[in-house]
Amino acid sequence: MNEVDVSHYFDFCATTPLCDVARDAMMPFLGQDFYNPNQKTFVGSLRVARKIEDAHQKILMKLCADENDHLIFTSGATESNNLVLRGLCEYYDTQSEKIHIVTTAVEHASLLNVALDCSRRGHEVTVLPVNRQGQLSAEDVLQAIKPHTKLVSIMSANNETGDLFDVISLAKAVKNKFPKLHFHSDMTQSCGKMTFDIKNSDIDSISFSAHKFYGPKGCGGLWLKKKSYYDIKPQILGGGQQNQWRGGTLSVAPIIGMAEALDFSLATYAQKQSEYRQWQHGIYEELSAHHDHLLLNTDFNSSMATVVNISVLGLKGEEILLALPEYALSTGSACQAHLSQPSHVLMGRGYTKEEASASLRLSWGHGTTPESIKNMLTQLSQVITQKRRQSLSYEMLTSLT
Ligand SMILES: Cc1ncc(COP(=O)(O)O)c(C=O)c1O
Repeated sequence: MNEVDVSHYFDFCATTPLCDVARDAMMPFLGQDFYNPNQKTFVGSLRVARKIEDAHQKILMKLCADENDHLIFTSGATESNNLVLRGLCEYYDTQSEKIHIVTTAVEHASLLNVALDCSRRGHEVTVLPVNRQGQLSAEDVLQAIKPHTKLVSIMSANNETGDLFDVISLAKAVKNKFPKLHFHSDMTQSCGKMTFDIKNSDIDSISFSAHKFYGPKGCGGLWLKKKSYYDIKPQILGGGQQNQWRGGTLSVAPIIGMAEALDFSLATYAQKQSEYRQWQHGIYEELSAHHDHLLLNTDFNSSMATVVNISVLGLKGEEILLALPEYALSTGSACQAHLSQPSHVLMGRGYTKEEASASLRLSWGHGTTPESIKNMLTQLSQVITQKRRQSLSYEMLTSLT
């Protein structure tokens, strides 16, 4: 199989191409080994079930989790986030208890919108603001906790800026004081890049999606620390699959592909990280050498090395994208690509509407080359110059300084 051409693709935070190892591993299960792993007597099914078990163990190992922990295969991080938040609220609904959830203003829509829905159902949600650098302190989190708080959910890497929260320390601070709270982290962006010692951490659950780390789309997981009880109600009822956690016949080929992709992605990132970091610096330096009034929205000291977010003041990120249809760039969250709203992540950091609407996210990964970056930057630079010549906002900005 030929490598996929990603020379015009700078949107690896939105999705990544399927890697060859994952594709190859999936093929038998899209062909002769099509059997249902839940059938308990047929040798073909038993063979498939063993492969699923291998994938299960491999993912737990690559996540640095315990082999006895739970791993619930889902359709992706959106479902995993729904399962934790809704599942918890619904469990407490059955106890006629209203609970309190703490999260942050910069989470992905698949978490914030579920939190909003939980609040519509009578539960209480605190959405913590972050500072202009996108950070929040353990003290901020601890102060938000109330007697009826049951869940704290904080992402590890931000999908728009690439910035990291130190979730290991935040979870530790929370669980030190409130050992019974559930600490969830949406690790969709960092999974496949960074490894955390989740086995020895205070994190109770994490969400992830295979297509963010060179696996297939429509497949992901929720890791849950092994405990004797769970106050989470399953959201998809069916034939008792996955120990009742999620009904439905397992999506065999994608699950097997996901395990291989995770391995591939972690190895690739480890090997390329310093080069990726140079590209991150280099892209910003190159753009700022030719253009003034840029805002750097990614903290190079505490971010994934595969993304840079820059506000090109005086323009809207969207108009830059429209002028470069042959390139896959982004203004921020993939899921909001159809909306011309300023980034909620940057607004959550206290940016003005103009600053937040001017954002541009460039992200790269396996297959990206220095040449492809250079070519993209040449095109991007031309568009910025051209568009700013016609921009009244830019003119006003420069006349003020
Ligand atoms: C941080 C984060 N969480 C959750 C999701 C949702 O992932 P999926 O669309 O694969 O369910 C995304 C996707 O962009 C994400 O970046």
